[in-house]
Amino acid sequence: MQASVSNPARSTTDLASGAFCANPVLDEFWYPVALASETVAGARRITVLGKHYALWRDAAGNPSALPDRCTHRNSPLSAGSVTAEGCLRCPYHGWEFDGAGRCVAIPSSGPGATIPPKAHLPAVPCVERYGLVWVCPGEPRGTIPMMPWDDDPTFRRFQNPVQEWAVSATRMVDNFMDYSHFPYVHVVSFGGAAATEIPDMELGPLPDGFYGYEYEVIAANDSGGTSVSLQDSPVVHRRMSTGFHLPFAVRSTIEYDSGLQHILLLLSTPVDDVNSLFTFVVWRNAEADADADEDTVMAFDRLIGAEDKLMLERLSGPLPLGNEGVVSVQADKPSVEWKRQLRALLAPRQEDVPCP
Ligand code: FES
Ligand SMILES: [Fe+2]
Repeated sequence: MQASVSNPARSTTDLASGAFCANPVLDEFWYPVALASETVAGARRITVLGKHYALWRDAAGNPSALPDRCTHRNSPLSAGSVTAEGCLRCPYHGWEFDGAGRCVAIPSSGPGATIPPKAHLPAVPCVERYGLVWVCPGEPRGTIPMMPWDDDPTFRRFQNPVQEWAVSATRMVDNFMDYSHFPYVHVVSFGGAAATEIPDMELGPLPDGFYGYEYEVIAANDSGGTSVSLQDSPVVHRRMSTGFHLPFAVRSTIEYDSGLQHILLLLSTPVDDVNSLFTFVVWRNAEADADADEDTVMAFDRLIGAEDKLMLERLSGPLPLGNEGVVSVQADKPSVEWKRQLRALLAPRQEDVPCP
């Protein structure tokens, strides 16, 4: 019968509408959910791919995450408190959970009582990297993007807030892979001098597991741009590369003629199909930045991010992942390639296909 060969994995991605969150493959990748500096005391709720998690730090200071649903009466654990032992205490009847998801105390049962095996929760892998807390909702198979500049003492890392945008993660990556919007969306910041015509580009593997292209841009150098380029000419020349790391990370490298490098890791975490967390991390090798305040150095990049947010929040729904519903031209080649690789990632695996 036809029904016996239906494929549950395929049905969770709708190429026409672009709905992707229900695809279980995405649970196997890492997503940044908070600034490490903000995840200090107490617990908080985070939402990734439509599912809620409680996030807190254990007694050793390690970030921990669990499904935000107590096994007793389903109270949100994120509304609870953190004990002196670093466990998460449910706000309803005080059951306590450690970072591995083990229920370690049921006060109403008294000391020494047996903990029912079903009281435990599945652990959610959680790590700290690049000043961010990352979670992987399932069994990790993806890796956190590699940024070798983080180990280079000549570079300084700059953090930026984790914001929630009313934008699909797929719309974000489509935007980050594209530079034909520079002269229109970024006209106030750096795009006023950018060419509107986009030459053909060669796509291929970039260092450290990214996939994308290299290009050159003339950027306007006013409205605060001088504090980033550290040059005072009206325009500056940038050698750039932009590449994606599946599913939703993009890295852009910028090199100025002065040798100054400005490296951006742009990160989208799907809250659901149409809302996302956005943050970006920057590495720079500028001696002038050594003592500079993070907010001052990042002000210009945050302005650029606000320009993208304003544009992207005008778009509704996720990006269609097939070839229907949007028209692509040569300048969209990088995004079209990202969509092709994302579709391949989300395609059903043999072990997901039920036997007929
Ligand atoms: S609901 Fe969590 S302890 Fe009762
Ligand atoms: Fe942009």
